[in-house]
Amino acid sequence: MDKKTFYITTPIYYPSGDPHIGHCYTTVACDSIARYKRMQGYDVMFLTGTDEHGQKIEEKAKEQGVTPQQYVDGIVAIFKKLWSYMNISYDRYIRTTDDYHIESVQKIFKALYDKGYIYKGKYTGKYCTPCESFWTESQLDENGCCPECHRPVVEAEEEAYFFKMSPFADRIEKLLLETDYLRPKYRAQELVNNFIKPGLEDLCVSRTSFSWGIPVTFDEKHVVYVWIDALSNYITALGYENGAYGDFEKYWPADVHMVAKDIMRFHAIIWPAMLMALDIPLPKHLAVHGWITFLNKKGEEQKMSKSLGNVVDPFMLGERYGVDTIRYHILREMALGADSAFSNEIMINRINSDLANGFGNLVSRTVAMADKYFGGTLPAEREEGEFDQSLIDTVLSVRDRVNACIDETRLKNALEEIFTVVDRANKYIDETEPWKLGKDESKKARLASVLYNLLEAIRVISTLLSPFMPSTMPKVWEQIGATESDATYENAGKFGVLPENVTVHKGEILFPRIDIDKEIEELNAIIEKNMAKAKAHLSESEKGEEFAPAELAPEIGIEDFAKADLRVALVKECEKVKKSKKLLCLQLDDGFGGRQVVSGIAEWYKPEDLIGKKIIIVANLKPAKLCGVESQGMILAADTPDGGASVVFPDQDLPCGSKIR
Ligand code: MSP
Repeated sequence: MDKKTFYITTPIYYPSGDPHIGHCYTTVACDSIARYKRMQGYDVMFLTGTDEHGQKIEEKAKEQGVTPQQYVDGIVAIFKKLWSYMNISYDRYIRTTDDYHIESVQKIFKALYDKGYIYKGKYTGKYCTPCESFWTESQLDENGCCPECHRPVVEAEEEAYFFKMSPFADRIEKLLLETDYLRPKYRAQELVNNFIKPGLEDLCVSRTSFSWGIPVTFDEKHVVYVWIDALSNYITALGYENGAYGDFEKYWPADVHMVAKDIMRFHAIIWPAMLMALDIPLPKHLAVHGWITFLNKKGEEQKMSKSLGNVVDPFMLGERYGVDTIRYHILREMALGADSAFSNEIMINRINSDLANGFGNLVSRTVAMADKYFGGTLPAEREEGEFDQSLIDTVLSVRDRVNACIDETRLKNALEEIFTVVDRANKYIDETEPWKLGKDESKKARLASVLYNLLEAIRVISTLLSPFMPSTMPKVWEQIGATESDATYENAGKFGVLPENVTVHKGEILFPRIDIDKEIEELNAIIEKNMAKAKAHLSESEKGEEFAPAELAPEIGIEDFAKADLRVALVKECEKVKKSKKLLCLQLDDGFGGRQVVSGIAEWYKPEDLIGKKIIIVANLKPAKLCGVESQGMILAADTPDGGASVVFPDQDLPCGSKIR
């Protein structure tokens, strides 16, 4: 009989910057599930890849003076290097620039058009004429201007194709609310309330304003825009509508798509709608996790971002603590659906408690005692005793408990289940006191039983841990005298697999205990150099990110400059604009009775950083509304090299309203 199949996917990543520990989460999680399923005997297809088209890539390549293809080739090489470093056992790697994917996407687009689900319409957005670019409201800079050249944008229209979503609204609502497609389920209602109840909007699926994309075959000035290109990867990688692979029948529908919460909507609504429109069966599950956030020194959680300098480099962590340790840590910390805060303290405490003191200590104590009392080889004599059955029961029940967690994509819980056996076994050592038995010749048979039971517990624990920590567990097997064939999934459901006269081999300490104070000091120093170090792993094209001033605007006469009236103003009050992460609303004393200015600097300044300070404003700018709040002018701030903003403060205390020339 053919093996049962299991198809699992990560999102395809944008190759637009350094991969960081946040990117590792989904990939390590999917890898662990894929390995577990292979161990269970499934024929697994584990897919990952890169999402390589779009305006952003086109621009980055231009900045670096390379072609978009050269640019993405450089970053894809880093992603692949990271995945190999993290021991990611993907079966297939899709690049949306692969010919077969392009061919399939063109056919999918045409099929949707022929069925009447794609139609030509007009896309309305903010357009920057000098840059010839459309921007969405949220992409605009703090003054509502073009994020590239900071000149004003205009409302404009562009011809575009749209995907009709409304015919699928009822079916999608049922999928979300009445099936277990979406995990965790509690996110379903919010999706329905926010996107389906108000009426599903049609999706813009083509663009004419940039060219780095898959051309629409029947209208060549259009390229396919983002989601039809990206989401299709899950089927094109199996050979849907192309001749590169013949695996669609075998693996589709996918068992698990795993994504983070920011792209949940696309996978929970748009992807099912596309599949419904194409008459393709729906995937079985969408598992949505939160973000790994960075816990800063003040205890605040921040999104990892290059401009905040808090990006955690997986290469650096792997070098210091070992790749398996990092894999364990990120999976153990994050509950499905929730965010998880990353800090060096949390990580080191976790490594010390679970791995060094918990599992590592269990292995080293057991092996050391077998070595000390029996010269490494257990004798055949046995004597059962108190506590044995309780340990054996815990060991024998753990596999089913872990299976249930894996099947529901709850990896944190799977690891917790495995560690119930670690804790039980360590407790068994305290209960049976083998060091006392070792001193008494007449207790040798009892001692042999105790050590054998411990070795068996370790065999089952390490077998079940091996998908999560694939390079360390073979070292455990070596130490406890197990062969790979002892450490199978089938044997993880049994007790008494190791030979009765098993021979252990003392080996290296698997998880050295970390001196937390010393380590934190060193890590804090490293954080400073972190970015530079991450760059060392990057391709030449990424390395070339030295500061280059923005291009000079065309020459103007003094009379043009004189039109701008710049004044000194005092910040009297300042608060965040509700519903906006970027905007601050400032009440100013401008020397003319006061005014309100809204500025997009909330990512870099807190209200208290500005209150009481003198700043410079453009005082005769036409009022505009930002996020519904009126702004009477704008604040002068310089671009920082890392993409932030630095407010300009006068270097002496000038009266409010002083003119700047
Ligand atoms: N290209 C799209 C996905 C298309 S899938 C058909 C994309 N790419 S991405 O590179 O921006 O992000 C890929 C995934 O990495 C997303 O699920 C994103 O949320 C996740 N993560 C990025 N930073 C992360 C953390 N700090 N923590 C956890 N996941 C993070 O979106």
